[in-house]
Amino acid sequence: MLRFNTINDTRQQLHAWRIAGERIVFVATMGNLHQGHLRLVEHARQHGDRVVVSIFVNPMQFNDKDDFAAYPNTLAQDEAKLKAVGIDMLFLPSVEMVYPGGHQQNSEVIVPGLSDILCGACRPGHFVGVATVVAKFFNIVQADVAVFGEKDFQQLMVIRRMVNELCFPVEIIGVPTERESDGLAMSSRNGYLSVEERQQAPLLYKVLVQAKLQLENGDESIAEIEAQAQQTLQATGFRPEYFSVRSVQDLVLAEASTQDLVIVAAAWLGKARLIDNIRLNLG
Ligand code: PAF
Repeated sequence: MLRFNTINDTRQQLHAWRIAGERIVFVATMGNLHQGHLRLVEHARQHGDRVVVSIFVNPMQFNDKDDFAAYPNTLAQDEAKLKAVGIDMLFLPSVEMVYPGGHQQNSEVIVPGLSDILCGACRPGHFVGVATVVAKFFNIVQADVAVFGEKDFQQLMVIRRMVNELCFPVEIIGVPTERESDGLAMSSRNGYLSVEERQQAPLLYKVLVQAKLQLENGDESIAEIEAQAQQTLQATGFRPEYFSVRSVQDLVLAEASTQDLVIVAAAWLGKARLIDNIRLNLG
């Protein structure tokens, strides 16, 4: 596994692979890697010859300084995991390398509308930070394919729209959420849960599954189902930010006639902000 800290070294190696006709697949991460990330690498491997992974905790996407400062750094373990799964290159730029003039002064990539709802409404500026750093990394790596997890469903949609609208020559692949045996979506933030909260946490997914069944049964309105889910979460110690049935195409509010749906949820449990989603088609 090659390991580079600078944009120039990274580009030189990628150029050599590209002229040798090799297909490059990119996986962007913020480190603190778990099985979900390793699954992304596995998918990446199926789509090309060289797998490039970045680890960069992006200050521009944190609307809360303390959240950024507390973000776990597990670099030694992350490197060991990536070596074990056999990636080709680890790109580890510093904040100064990515944002030479500081991230507040950096040019921004804005995906309007989609960035301002749901997680974007709860974390103002978050998706501008995500789109900007992902655009930078796409320009540095110039991968043929980039792989992202579906747990961050809105993020995946923001990136897909950015790629379409700004004509980035990269194919985006979404990978289904990796779950613990009790259903909890794997996330770096699960590490913030206490032992008791960890036992409680899978309820978020159970409530999503229950809402999906209710929508499929068709006996209750979307508003009733959303309200019941929020109540269940509140009654069991979660602090829901949203629980919402949306159109899978554009994340606008679903209507009774919308068939291709995604139910998206974000809720705090203690110090952890958990997000999850489930898709369904009523066609
Ligand atoms: O999903 C993440 O870990 C981050 O948002 C990403 C895509 C690596 C951008 O910093």
